Parts: sequence; structure tokens; C-alpha cells
Amino acid sequence: MIDLFPFVKPFVHTLDAERAHTLTIAALKMGLDGKIGQMKDPENLRTTVFGLSLDNPVGLAAGFDKNADVIAPCQAMGFGFTEAGTVTPQPQAGNEKPRLFRLKEDKAVINRFGFNNKGLEYFAHSLGKLSPGSSKPFGANVGANKATDDKTDDYVKGIRALYGLADYFTVNISSPNTPGLRALQSRSALTDLIKRVLEAREAEMASGKAYMPILIKIAPDLTSDDITDIAEIALTTDIDGLIVSNTTIMRPADLKSQHRLEMGGLSGAPLMEPSTKILGEIYTATEGKVPLIGVGGIASGADAYAKIRAGASLVQFYSALVYEGPGLVDRIKKELSQRLKQDGYASVAEAVGADRK
Ligand SMILES: Cc1cc2nc3c(=O)[nH]c(=O)nc-3n(C[C@H](O)[C@H](O)[C@H](O)COP(=O)(O)O)c2cc1C
Repeated sequence: MIDLFPFVKPFVHTLDAERAHTLTIAALKMGLDGKIGQMKDPENLRTTVFGLSLDNPVGLAAGFDKNADVIAPCQAMGFGFTEAGTVTPQPQAGNEKPRLFRLKEDKAVINRFGFNNKGLEYFAHSLGKLSPGSSKPFGANVGANKATDDKTDDYVKGIRALYGLADYFTVNISSPNTPGLRALQSRSALTDLIKRVLEAREAEMASGKAYMPILIKIAPDLTSDDITDIAEIALTTDIDGLIVSNTTIMRPADLKSQHRLEMGGLSGAPLMEPSTKILGEIYTATEGKVPLIGVGGIASGADAYAKIRAGASLVQFYSALVYEGPGLVDRIKKELSQRLKQDGYASVAEAVGADRK
């Protein structure tokens, strides 16, 4: 099937970025997915992480499918797994528009959405419509409402409401667009959050439900003390893994685009280097014992491979889809498979952390 994205991109990119995204979700919901992702996944991409068996390690990052509306069409693009959300307990409008900006010359995006979403009830209903066993693994990314004082309680609510409906949870404490959220990454707040989140899982399991992995998604803007604290907490609790990283509040000096100084989180190409550096540091600090998902700036198989060599067992991306379209998923998988072979690795797992050993 041909990839229509190069033909529709000039039109889509004349639209305001948020409108283009809304239209894309509507088109995917209607089944206009272009039938990309027809490639059979190479054997050496097959992997098992957090007890989940995946055809390939390339995932769709959170934020594209905030309300779990298009899990099946996203998976049809060839991703090995996808992540929906962030969802908050109550529906929320998010920040004022405009709040999404393309930085074309930098192959980057800035967003300050502020968790616009339809809330847990809608999200659970969307997941309930999926035919059981039909999909690849997917995660539910949970967050906190802006107006909630006890933010930790919102994560507990998310886990209780969605337990058993997804394959893993991501606890997102790293969006820069909800005041106070990133403070949950501090040692004392994180310790309390993890305790309460793990208690929620135990309560669900006590009622007969199966184990669900719970991951924590962190920011790239952390000090080395933060990294030490987070690594120690990850090593000493029953958390299943870390996602490194969310968007950055940093603005590299060499950004060229008109929108470079907009408030919000920066993602895409300029995030590749800093997020991979933090990923490698976390891998070393956790002695390779905590599974990591590497996210931030991936736009090629070489980028995905660099994340894996820095310590990622799986990878995700989002921003590059805006510039390259869904055909990129197959291109990344092909190149990653070739690079593993060239370097003599029989599987993704063998290459994890190769640059840190
Ligand atoms: C428009 C947009 C919205 C996002 N929304 C979320 C979100 O709701 N929850 C979340 O955990 N991450 C969100 N992210 C962050 C991505 O999941 C990812 O961590 C980040 O963009 C870095 O990856 P990338 O450079 O491949 O985009 C969002 C990113 C973008 C560009």
C-alpha cells in the first residue's frame, strides 16, 4: 500500500497544528488509516519486557491518543505497543489555544496542552469497546487534574478505574504544563506516590485481578541528585520501570523556528541528545536492573538504536510522526533490525545498555 502522507502533508501543515491533530484523530476513527504498517516484523525485533511479549520494541508515545479513541488504527501503523492518555479523573479543557506549535526548521514541537482530555469515564468506555485479545499491548497513561490538591489521589483513582482494561500503566509526573506536577518527582513526594499507587494495585489483585506493570514517566530536566533519588526509589520498590523522558522546558540556544520561545514542553529532534543522556545516566544508576523505555527525539532507526544502546529496553516516539507520517514506523523497524544484525546482536535485548558497559 502506498504511503499517502507525503502527498497530504503540505495541506495538513497549512492548518493550525491542533486542528491538524484533531482532523487526524477523526480520520483514524473513521478508518482512514492509509493501511500503512504492512511490514512483517523481523524476528530480531521480538522482545519481552515487564512480562509483555512484543513483536517489536517501537511504541507510540502518550499524548497522540489522549482519550483512547484510536488504539487499533495506531497499532495498524506497525507499532509494537501504544500508549493512550494522559487521562485525568475529571474531564478537563486544558489551557487556552493556541497551545500546540510546530517548530518546522528544528523538526520539533512545543505543546502546553495542560492535560485536555475527556476524563476516566470516557477513557474506560473507549477501552471497553476494544475486542478482547485483538490488539497489541497498550498502556494507560494517568495524570492529575489541575484543580486537585491531593494530586497523588488522582493517580490512585486512575489506576483503580482502569485496572484490568490495559496492559500496563504509566504514572505521568513529568508534564511541565500542570503546575505542581513535576514536584512529585522529589524523593519524599515520589516515595509516598509509589506507596499509594502500589497499594492500589495490591487492592485490585486482592479482588482477583491479574498483575499489571506500573511505570513512572520522568522529565529530562533533572539534576544529578534527582537521578540518584529516583534510581534508588526504582531499585527499592516494586515499580516495574521508568519512561525517560517527557518533554523539556529547556530551550537549546540553536533553535531557529519562530515559535521557539513559546511556553510549554519541547519535543522532537532537539530532545534526542539530552533525553538520551539522562536515559544512560538512569541506566547506570539503576545498574541495568530496572527496565527503561527511551523516548525523546527519535526520528530514525539509528535514533532508536542509540536509545537501546544507552539502556532502553523499548522506545517510543511522537513528534517525528508530525513531520514524517506513519510510514516512519516501518522505516525505523527496518533500520533498527539491520543495525542489530550488523553489530552481531541476535535480539534487541542483547543490545540494551551496550554503550554503558
Ligand atoms: C503534542 C504533544 C502532547 C503530549 N501529551 C502528552 C501526555 O498527555 N502525556 C505524556 O505523558 N506525554 C505527552 N507528550 C510527551 C510525549 O509522550 C513524549 O514523551 C515527548 O514528546 C518526547 O518524545 P518525541 O520527541 O518523540 O515527541 C506529548 C507530546 C506532544 C508533542
